[in-house]
Amino acid sequence: MKSNLKFFKKKKSLPVDKFLQNVLYDKKFGYYSSQVPFGEKGDFITAPTISNLFSELISIWIISTWEKFGKPEKINIVELGPGDGSLIKILLDISKKFPEFNSAKNIFLYETSDNLKKIQKSNIKNNKIKWIKNFQNLNDAPVIFFGNEFFDAIPIKQFKRIKKKLYEKNYSINENYEIKEILRKANKQDLKNIQSFKVLKNLQFIEFPKFGLTEMKKIIKTISKLNGCLLMIDYGYLKPNNQNTLQSVIKNKKNKLLQNLGRADITSHVNFSLLNEFFLKNKCKVKKVISQKEFLIKMGINSRAEIIAKKMKFRDQANLYLRLERLLSPKLMGELFKVILVYKCKNNNYYGFN
Ligand SMILES: C[S@@+](CC[C@H](N)C(=O)[O-])C[C@H]1O[C@@H](n2cnc3c(N)ncnc32)[C@H](O)[C@@H]1O
Repeated sequence: MKSNLKFFKKKKSLPVDKFLQNVLYDKKFGYYSSQVPFGEKGDFITAPTISNLFSELISIWIISTWEKFGKPEKINIVELGPGDGSLIKILLDISKKFPEFNSAKNIFLYETSDNLKKIQKSNIKNNKIKWIKNFQNLNDAPVIFFGNEFFDAIPIKQFKRIKKKLYEKNYSINENYEIKEILRKANKQDLKNIQSFKVLKNLQFIEFPKFGLTEMKKIIKTISKLNGCLLMIDYGYLKPNNQNTLQSVIKNKKNKLLQNLGRADITSHVNFSLLNEFFLKNKCKVKKVISQKEFLIKMGINSRAEIIAKKMKFRDQANLYLRLERLLSPKLMGELFKVILVYKCKNNNYYGFN
């Protein structure tokens, strides 16, 4: 525990986002540097590890978008935060059935964790895929960015409004390694940024994804230059209601936020209205945010499941439909997860959004 908190050494207090950045992504002690987070034996389960059907439909969406772009001879495909590489493995398999796409595609994986990069490399086993730290070396061709549970894994800032003034939540540490919440006056630049968002007006408690928006700016710059789009799926909401949405999970169970630091995953819920406003401000086009259920059903997940189920034994069929239910049920992931599509190109017609 003490070693996990070494990052506090120089500073006695840190804003929530910098604190979480260390707890999750420190190269030595961070959660993502030392744990294998995914799957039933890990700490949490994501859609690609629940069912291959999810990855198949995202792959079909990517290939159909390439078609709608006019089947360019080259296309950059960038996965943001590929986790254990499950989705890309399926994309590689499905691509073989579409030879023109297969030879046009160049796949790039944007991953911050060296530990996960190793896991991805050994799971995917494909020497044509490139791991990247920025988007500067993509090919001179259109680009499709996509990410599942990428944005919710990027640490956020938190602010409280007290008598009309904004204060930023920080964590401080004492000599016994006890962590306490303290409030500091918000800095001018953050204040200005926050005040520019209509969706954050009049809130008493504000979550602001400063690091996440920096990532989005780099993506917007790239899709403006090369032409293209970004598809993101995440746990999130449309109406902020003064709630602290940070959540910590260990072995698929809820955990107290400040317990098991470096051993538990910590995420927040994504404010999709804020993202929508941000992209519009940055002169992007955005499709109406829809639920994961709506997106997957429009993409044909039910008929795909029926086709696969025909060749299965009863036990496997039951398993398939149980997993499908998990992805689609409004009480499970169906409504809680949302899908946003951002683009800066002529094509306005995308499967799943019409
Ligand atoms: C919650 S996991 C989701 C993994 C995978 N997409 C899935 O659905 O199973 C978040 C992923 O984003 C990566 N990540 C988080 N912040 C990042 C950043 N700033 N740059 C690149 N990758 C990042 C994490 O290391 C991890 O691979």
